[in-house]
Amino acid sequence: MICYLIVVIPLVVTRQHQIYRLETLSSKMASSDRELSDCINDFTLDIYKHVTSQQPSGNLFMSPSSMMVVLTMLHVGSRNKTEDQMTQVLKLEKLDKKAILRHMETFVSTLKKGSKSVTLSTANRLFPHTDKTILRDYISLVSEHFKAEIKSMDYTTNAEGARVEINKWVEGETNSKIKDLLPGGSLNSLTAMVVVNAIYFKGNWATQFEPKDTKKSTFTKLNSDKEHIDMMSRRMKKAKYGENRSLACKTLELPYEGEELAMIVVLPNTNDGLLALEKQLTLENLQSLVSGVHPGTVDVSLPKFKLETSLELKKVLSALGMRDLFQDDADLSGMGKDLYVSQVYHKAFVDVNEEGTEAAAATAAVVMKRSIQRTLDFKADHPFLFMIWDHRLKVPLFIGRFVEPPSTAGPGFQQTKDEL
Ligand SMILES: *[C@@H]1O[C@H](CO)[C@@H](O)[C@H](O)[C@H]1NC(C)=O
Ligand SMILES: *[C@@H]1O[C@H](CO)[C@@H](O)[C@H](O)[C@H]1NC(C)=O
Repeated sequence: MICYLIVVIPLVVTRQHQIYRLETLSSKMASSDRELSDCINDFTLDIYKHVTSQQPSGNLFMSPSSMMVVLTMLHVGSRNKTEDQMTQVLKLEKLDKKAILRHMETFVSTLKKGSKSVTLSTANRLFPHTDKTILRDYISLVSEHFKAEIKSMDYTTNAEGARVEINKWVEGETNSKIKDLLPGGSLNSLTAMVVVNAIYFKGNWATQFEPKDTKKSTFTKLNSDKEHIDMMSRRMKKAKYGENRSLACKTLELPYEGEELAMIVVLPNTNDGLLALEKQLTLENLQSLVSGVHPGTVDVSLPKFKLETSLELKKVLSALGMRDLFQDDADLSGMGKDLYVSQVYHKAFVDVNEEGTEAAAATAAVVMKRSIQRTLDFKADHPFLFMIWDHRLKVPLFIGRFVEPPSTAGPGFQQTKDEL
């Protein structure tokens, strides 16, 4: 229903407690930190474009930052071609492995520190198998640089119990907004590790909408159908507002209390302008939209809405070039032997109302052991003995032998009659 909104997920702040505005990033962040934020912005746009091109008319809400953190934790354990593909999809080409760890540490620490006046939290956790399939070196590297807690699980005897426990942890980290992240059957006795990130945000608008001003109003969908929805409205003085002719859209920044985070709404000039706008979303264009806002008095109407999105990312990530990670020839030798990733699950939730916004997301990657069972042969193509065995009585109730195909005399029937 909310077809014209691009909600740029307001979940990232810089060390200097500035709103995540790219202009301030370039002036205030160290150049290397800027490189990581470029990586995340680039990855965000790739994922956004790919997912929307697959489902052009549906709502969407997600946290590519959360995906990025989980995938980078996997990247640490990847080698050779698997690593190259992950590096390319995560846009990490310009950073060596040490730099990636350093920047991720800063990124995660900043998020974990939260922000004044709003609630912002994130948590990473590794759930390795108790059987030590996952190398200690990998676990200590990731726990240090991603501030990840470790909780060992026995997937061999109780995969379902582990799944329920991981889902409960995610629920706890997201104020119960993300439930059942791992669907039934996603873990089994071959599971080696689950890598999880959860992120939660709740902030009040710096200036709230008045509930009495929320009225039913017409919303025009991409296919021109009209619907009546709850529309919040208010006059904003000194609102950060921008127009861009070449991208045919208007931009409005709605700050949360403390002004360190904001929602940025990009509204195409025409009812059906979103698809064209999305096609033009590049890092440069995003930057000029986010930074091209200036103070003005604006009458704002914004839908009051809640959205939930659930994604399985294996297909998207494979299509973007991260193929080997999910295949038998995955090389995760920095993490352990004979491992691959079976699926990356992502869920996100947002509630936008007069007071502010509540948003949560979680990502979980499931690392599996390759089943290296030999395929055994049993070809009954020569004479054999057979029984019908009763396990309770521990005796065969019937026994026979098969030494040649039954004669063609009767249909599959051959009488044996011997006098002993
Ligand atoms: C993969 O990487 C490891 C070390 O990172 C190296 O020893 C090995 O030779 C590489 N294998 C291939 C097939 O390139
Ligand atoms: C509009 O976007 C284009 C493309 O990113 C940019 O070059 C231009 O400066 C923007 N115009 C305004 C007024 O912000």
